Amino acid sequence: MTPSSSPIHKLEDYKPSPWFTPSVELRFDLDLHLTVVRAEYEVVLQTPEKEPLFLNGESLDFLSIRIDGAILDPNEYQVTPLGILIPDPPKDKFKLIVENRINPATNTSLEGLYKSGSMLCTQNEPEGFRKIVYSIDRPDNMMQFRVTISGDTSLFPVMLSNGNLVGESQLVEGKKEVIWEDPYPKPSYLFALVAGELEETKDTFITKSGREVALKIFVEKGNEEKVGFAFDSLKKAMKWDEDTFGLEYDLDLFMIVAVEDFNMGAMENKGLNLFNAKLVLADKKSATDESFEAILAVIAHEYFHNWTGNRVTLRNWFNLTLKEGLTVFRDQWFTEDMTDPAVKRIKDVLFLKEFQFPEDQGPMSHPILPKSYKEMNNFYTVTVYEKGAEVIRLVSELIGRDLFKKGLKHYLSKYDGQGVTFEEFVSSMEEVTGHSIPNLRNWYHRSGTPLISVKESFSKESNEWIFDLTDTGGDDYPLVYSNSLAVFNREGSLLKEEKRIMVGERDQIRVSALDQEGTKPIVSFFRSLSSPIRLDYKQTEEETIVLAKMETDGVSRFFSFQNLIFDWFRKSLDSGKGENLSTILETIADSFGRGWDKTYHSFYLSFPGLTQISESIGCYEFQKLASLRREAVQSIAVKFTSQFQILFEENRKTIPIQTKEEIGKRRLKNIALYYLLYDPKNQFEKLAVMEQREAKHMSEEVSAMKYLLEIDSKEKENSVRLFFEKWKHDGLVLDVWFAAQVASGEDRSKIAEKLEKHPQFNIRNPNKVRALYFSLARNPLSFHAEDGSGYQFIAERIKRLNEINPQMAAALTKLFSPVSKQKGELPKIAKIELESIANLPNLSKELGEIVGTILNSL
Ligand code: ARG
Ligand code: ZN
Repeated sequence: MTPSSSPIHKLEDYKPSPWFTPSVELRFDLDLHLTVVRAEYEVVLQTPEKEPLFLNGESLDFLSIRIDGAILDPNEYQVTPLGILIPDPPKDKFKLIVENRINPATNTSLEGLYKSGSMLCTQNEPEGFRKIVYSIDRPDNMMQFRVTISGDTSLFPVMLSNGNLVGESQLVEGKKEVIWEDPYPKPSYLFALVAGELEETKDTFITKSGREVALKIFVEKGNEEKVGFAFDSLKKAMKWDEDTFGLEYDLDLFMIVAVEDFNMGAMENKGLNLFNAKLVLADKKSATDESFEAILAVIAHEYFHNWTGNRVTLRNWFNLTLKEGLTVFRDQWFTEDMTDPAVKRIKDVLFLKEFQFPEDQGPMSHPILPKSYKEMNNFYTVTVYEKGAEVIRLVSELIGRDLFKKGLKHYLSKYDGQGVTFEEFVSSMEEVTGHSIPNLRNWYHRSGTPLISVKESFSKESNEWIFDLTDTGGDDYPLVYSNSLAVFNREGSLLKEEKRIMVGERDQIRVSALDQEGTKPIVSFFRSLSSPIRLDYKQTEEETIVLAKMETDGVSRFFSFQNLIFDWFRKSLDSGKGENLSTILETIADSFGRGWDKTYHSFYLSFPGLTQISESIGCYEFQKLASLRREAVQSIAVKFTSQFQILFEENRKTIPIQTKEEIGKRRLKNIALYYLLYDPKNQFEKLAVMEQREAKHMSEEVSAMKYLLEIDSKEKENSVRLFFEKWKHDGLVLDVWFAAQVASGEDRSKIAEKLEKHPQFNIRNPNKVRALYFSLARNPLSFHAEDGSGYQFIAERIKRLNEINPQMAAALTKLFSPVSKQKGELPKIAKIELESIANLPNLSKELGEIVGTILNSL
């Protein structure tokens, strides 16, 4: 079957499965190349009329099938590339035993059972289980699992699965067997198995009811010292879920395994989370502040899935956002509580604007509840995750966090052990508030970022300013918005705060003039992005400056300053030259005296990157933007040289620990260094060189190298060499090294071409692919190079990945989404490249769906 003819799964076609399998006994006889898998299911008919039984199974080597002990006659079933069809099962209820073989060592898709380093491990969400054994592989089929694993003791001293270890025995010489039982029924996507030579590290957690939970993190030898932060993060997450929602962990054992080759961040398999090693392993020498924070967030995220995702799971994959949007919202809230709420919110909104807004404006746009898909793997998107989280945040804004907590508890107890849809979640929230929330459900069906326009007018009679808000695209799916707003006077004193709920397409807000002359108050709308929208409101420069300095909401203050910067780009593009920067400079000058939190101030001072700028102002001429950006950053550097020197010196001595104070110092010092490096007289490069040499924390070391690369310093080669010599033994740190060399500047495809021949590059390792290819494709100057070299380079790698790892190939192809916005020949060149991908002889389903969607937009 060719991908374009592969079936489309439609939400409207969803039907419960006619058959289900309430329990399964799995047996694995492990071998790197030839693993035998046997499944024994209890099979039960759920429909009044008997229907054919279909077991999903792909890339499996079929061995045998039996019903109630009797081998089936070959004319009673058909084995196809997609599974086994039993047209007329003999009874309504029976035992089915099916056996097949698989080859984990050659499974480079990293889905199903595969080999990573010296271990075997699984990834089954969404549909990897069918690459392990025949099954009814859908989330609404929940099974109780008993898993027996046998294998060579020297190859597989550790053998893990979900739940509790209930048996372990020595078999013949050199072989052993273990048995795992998970008391909680779960869909196949939450099944996990890990086996190999792994080091076990331990900790414990006492739950609020006094139960002791054993915590274990398994790592490859040599990494045992790098798990401390992960354990702390896990314990914080467990405690927070108890304190915030009363949710306690429900088994006596919680395990995490760090895996080197992993397509995504991590996976919430019941009691046995699998993690991309980069999201577990960290110490001050080898991890940046950003990676520490990512570890905290992802460990929490996967842990939180134990309730939102596992105990209450999904009815079908269309509802993925039910568990992901909700769980992302929970992990964001957690990080807000653990760190700094304003800074965390700024990061999340920046991410949303840089990645989700463009996705929702481009060819891949889809509602958080997709209506159809060919390959579910393609729908683990920033829309389903991050916009999904924004919709949940909106619910919490609409009903308040206390009711939200109540509603979540209600939802989890009412639907415990079931597979549900977003409807059950929404109605649970409505039940605790006692009323319906109009239009909320439409957020699940409408794609695109709503654009709310604000028109202001003055009413002489009432001496009021009238703000008319209109949702410009809300005809089909009118929405509900939470609009947190504040009113300021012309000097920036806060006069009034209000939370408005806007139902439908329009709202009118009337605010008294500031005096008898009708002076206009300054209004700040949708503070902290209280709904996931774009705002079309032309505030005057004077008003924007006041908000950029005086907004009491730190998030909105930050974004007002960003707006000031974007306005400067707009003006400069219009006039064809860099305009006067005085308002930006004045606002920065003002910021030095505010005594803000250090991390906050460092964010405020960070000059937006090219992608952010281009998305915010809708201009995709990256050469022009880059030269304007350089001009602006240089002017800031020149104007504030002495302030940045002071900031740098003041924060120079940092202690390499993860406290708010030290992280703040490192960030502020780094941002100061960044500007100093843009000084046109190049007098500060030696500072960066020294920073790198004397660094006590990876954040210092990496920043210095990145900045030298970005400004194309004559020191950059030395810096890169030094970094490599120091870190060549550590694959995770080398990822940063690969990435930094292609992430900024022009013509980096050539560098990437050299780097991919480096002995430590490996196209089979997703972290390396992300480091090199994704970083290059996210560097607009190189990817959208006018001669098409960026497109050609990336297209060629997509073709290679198609054969190795279709998920990575498809994800990389998504970065072609913005090509239709490019000028000149570029869209044409991209089209030729994409067509040649679409014509690949072995085009995978994953890649076929994405390349087809983008081609349709060209
Ligand atoms: N459920 C996992 C998480 O968000 C991610 C699984 C991603 N799966 C995929 N096929 N991309 O925690
Ligand atoms: Zn998740």
